[in-house]
Amino acid sequence: MSTEPKRYLITSALPYANGPLHIGHIGGAYLNADIYTRYLRSKGKEVVFICGSDEHGAAITLRAKKEQKSPREIVDFYHQLMHQSFVDLGISFDEYHRTSSEEHKAMSQSIFLELEKNGQFEVETSQQYFDEEANQFLADRYIVGTCPKCANDKAYGDQCEKCGSSLSPMELINPHSTLSGSKPVLKETSHWFLPMAHHESWIREYIQEGKLDGLQHHDSKEWKSHVVGQCMSWIDGGLQSRAMTRDLDWGVPVPLAGADGKVLYVWLDAPIGYITNTKVWADKHGKNWEDYWKSDDTRLIHFIGKDNIVFHCIIFPIILKAHGSFILPHNVPANEFMNLEGDKISTSRNWAVWLHEYLLDFPERQDELRYVLCSIMPEQKDSEFTWNDFKDRVNNELADILGNFVNRVFVLIHKYYNGVLPELNGEASDAEKNAGRDAFTAYQAVGQKIEDYRFREALAEAMNIARVGNKLLTETEPWKLIKTDPEAAARILHACVNFVADAAFCLHPFLPFTAEKIRKALHIEWPSWDHLGQASLVGSGHIIGDLPILFAKITDEEVAAQVQKLEQSKLASIAQNKPEIKDPIDFDTFQKMDIRLVKILEAEAVPKTKKLLKLKVDTGVDQRTVVSGIAEHYAPADVIGKTVLFLANLAPREIKGIKSEGMILMAENAVQGLSLISAVKEMEAGDNVK
Ligand code: MF3
Ligand code: ZN
Repeated sequence: MSTEPKRYLITSALPYANGPLHIGHIGGAYLNADIYTRYLRSKGKEVVFICGSDEHGAAITLRAKKEQKSPREIVDFYHQLMHQSFVDLGISFDEYHRTSSEEHKAMSQSIFLELEKNGQFEVETSQQYFDEEANQFLADRYIVGTCPKCANDKAYGDQCEKCGSSLSPMELINPHSTLSGSKPVLKETSHWFLPMAHHESWIREYIQEGKLDGLQHHDSKEWKSHVVGQCMSWIDGGLQSRAMTRDLDWGVPVPLAGADGKVLYVWLDAPIGYITNTKVWADKHGKNWEDYWKSDDTRLIHFIGKDNIVFHCIIFPIILKAHGSFILPHNVPANEFMNLEGDKISTSRNWAVWLHEYLLDFPERQDELRYVLCSIMPEQKDSEFTWNDFKDRVNNELADILGNFVNRVFVLIHKYYNGVLPELNGEASDAEKNAGRDAFTAYQAVGQKIEDYRFREALAEAMNIARVGNKLLTETEPWKLIKTDPEAAARILHACVNFVADAAFCLHPFLPFTAEKIRKALHIEWPSWDHLGQASLVGSGHIIGDLPILFAKITDEEVAAQVQKLEQSKLASIAQNKPEIKDPIDFDTFQKMDIRLVKILEAEAVPKTKKLLKLKVDTGVDQRTVVSGIAEHYAPADVIGKTVLFLANLAPREIKGIKSEGMILMAENAVQGLSLISAVKEMEAGDNVK
């Protein structure tokens, strides 16, 4: 396990081709993988970095339906957009291919057939929802109904987005098809299931102890604890058989007789995309893809977000092992989530900083984004991007520390030595020695931290080299020494220009564009990572060139424009996502409801809850207690004395041990949250609404 691998296979999660990339994607699974890969390349390792678009599954067909396009049109558009954004940001994939390709069809079908031949599937027949009008079986996401847990009437067949419960379509109350709106019927269908429970004992050992077939495979202590934790709780919960096929008309067809209309489950076909795309790359470069996937001396590392953990740590490894000849991942350093300005990033709510828009709004400023996203990477816990923080980090760190140091050194060397690096003479002072030692410590730490998947710390260490250089300049003031002790001034600037080179070199996996500008201006080549520190990168007599401007400051106006853009997109998304009008009810049903105004007399928080207030209200005829879920939007003092809309004859319910009689009616949207509703004219408690 700790023996050096012969080659590395690095993958980033294949993003769904159903929308553009946003900063959460980048900080989750692409920037870290790119830094890691650039570092390995710089060490002279044999490494291939694989990604591509995930173009199958309901994520795509739903988007197509929403945009009234074909799935093909959707994936063609987003594949191209995502690929271009990755290239523009400097994410240096060796291959970015697609799962709707012919190569992938061949690869995934052949793996499926091999599994089938090995007896790894169990074919099971079950009842599934079928839409008779649309004449097709319904994927979980195509069925909407009322959540049995929270009564949300827009819950999907796999999940309720309101209360977060995972569901099965059978649990939905009053299900209907999103294709035709009709009520689906149950119909028999058969599918190929992977009986994961058969694999429980080895997968447990593989994750918990890092053992495989009795041998040490990896050091499980190197895995992130949240990754191991999530896997173990999944395994402890019991591994269920999972269908590896679906009734759908978009995907890789199941290559068996009698499987018409069936495709491979997207979570079977997508990870196989890593294999396909490796083969596509290998074929282009005269390599053998099997060296990368079937040879124990290859180290496979999957970079993903936390929502993909069980697929990469449990399900895909089971598939690979069940197949027989594939290697398993050495590590899956999943990241957690990045939030944006206080809210979860959401494609459907358009709450995101879109990568392609950033690249347009901030042209040639890729490294600024890479720097900030790496600085706040959600490695161990969720993190948050805000535009103000972006500005502060760019201005106070990139511009003031790195940009300023590099610039000072270039200016001084041009001014005092006409750009020619001076000779070294005399004894180094303590300040010089300390700086040399501190810089050396920093650049040794960079590599170690990258290998430990601690990219934030690695970046901070690389920046420390510039800090060390700035400190040396400030402490020794070579612009004064140049008159009193020219040998010392020469030694210090000699050291500083080498700190510039070292910093740029150590930063090149993180900030490839900036590092390249500095390298060119210094007129040097990069060494191999392991040679850094053995000899100066810039020696006496060397001539340096002109430094372009590295970083411009981010202005308050730029920040304000971005924040405003977000606010507008939130408003637009509210306007677009108004709930549809519900099914008609007759007048009698309406008449049965006692809607009236009540006055809130008392209010207090319900202990041990975040959302609930206990209210006493005057209905005009009695006083009663009602529990209301408004505590996140109103403090008790804000509601006392208000006269508001109320449903008085809702059957009493027990909430947190309190009997609640009736319900406060509220308006809701994503900007304001919940709002109490009161009458336009001055009205009184007990006045009824009709
Ligand atoms: N498309 C999936 C997502 O965005 C990730 C697929 S990763 C792969 O969540 F392994 F399946 F490729
Ligand atoms: Zn729910």
